[in-house]
Amino acid sequence: MPNTMSRTTALKYAELPAHSALTPASLEHALAALDETREDTLELIAGLSEEDLERVHSPIMSPLVWDLGHIAAYEDLWLAHRHAGLELLRPDLAELYDAFETPRAVRGEIEMLGPAEARDYLATVRARTAQALKLGGLGDGTVYEMVLRHECQHSETMRQTMAIASLLPPGEPALTPLTAPEGWIEIPEGPFAIGADDDGFAYDNERPRHIVDVAAFQIARHPVSNASWMGFSEGGGYERREWWSAEGWAWKQEHDITHHPAIAAAAGGAGGTQSPACHVSWFEADAFARAHGARLPTEAEWEKAARRELQTPAAIGAVWEWTSSAFHGYPGFTAYPYREYSEVFFGEDYRVLRGSSWATHPRVASLTFRNWDLPPRRQIFAGVRLARDSEQA
Ligand code: AVJ
Ligand code: FE
Repeated sequence: MPNTMSRTTALKYAELPAHSALTPASLEHALAALDETREDTLELIAGLSEEDLERVHSPIMSPLVWDLGHIAAYEDLWLAHRHAGLELLRPDLAELYDAFETPRAVRGEIEMLGPAEARDYLATVRARTAQALKLGGLGDGTVYEMVLRHECQHSETMRQTMAIASLLPPGEPALTPLTAPEGWIEIPEGPFAIGADDDGFAYDNERPRHIVDVAAFQIARHPVSNASWMGFSEGGGYERREWWSAEGWAWKQEHDITHHPAIAAAAGGAGGTQSPACHVSWFEADAFARAHGARLPTEAEWEKAARRELQTPAAIGAVWEWTSSAFHGYPGFTAYPYREYSEVFFGEDYRVLRGSSWATHPRVASLTFRNWDLPPRRQIFAGVRLARDSEQA
């Protein structure tokens, strides 16, 4: 079953602990998981032409063939070189495919491996890392888990690119109508422990776990549907100044954004009206919430609700959910194992998304995982779940 999308998404939080065990059951398990993920990656792009792999489909996305070379370079850097102590297989490619040395904006212009060469690079790196792990072991499993999840995360990034280019394989996007009753869930006032505990793998930005006090609030049982979005749009959603933040309004004016084409198209498709709205920017999510006398949840509210109500509101996993929170390190944060995973993005520019989407590999999805992007971005498989202050508050 190589296609990750055929796994059910509804149970994925319930099946997983807050994060998975650090050391896999055995080296064979570990190598098999790497191979399965690789099969998924290669199957995802199996139907694409060389041109589709090499073209820049959007100025904010890499050519798909860049992701392939980058996945290989990351594995070589972290598992073969840093973990197992081998020389880099290709120091030149390690630099070319470093996300910071070669930012997205220039990835369309530079010489890089072609599709066949990138596949070879992936295979050669893999053979070497598998050999190295057999000889030297997994250590505590951290670097292994990070490399495996890195490839899983890039499969979602690649799907974002493919969605923009209308290149998703049959059956995707796997968004299905929301069925359970609508309404609000009341979450009482009280402290809870946010973040990942010290056991098992978690990204640095999920730690340290710490207590936060959260006032009583309500959170919607479901993310917003395409039908609701059309109601917002047709009800003057893109015209009513008072529903928008100053930055959001400026963005909308500058780019002449008058509606949401992807949502309008999805709402018109089979079963589309009740499916969750997707590809919403933070600016739009924020405006939608204000138009409904509501707001976005903070990430603390989101995680508290998700921990209490494992199936609802958090566990649907069809679309990422924007929070009102900017992306900061938790108190006592320490970058690990490298600053460029999280720390360089901390600040007021980025907003946190929580949950997961239909395109998120279950290995990556957890109640503590923090995703982030800039407020105007629409390429993420992101929707809106409303929150509001409790009536008793
Ligand atoms: C966690 C999704 C924001 O894509 O920039 C991939 C994941 N980090 N390669 C990103 C990531 C390094 C990251 N996000
Ligand atoms: Fe990456």
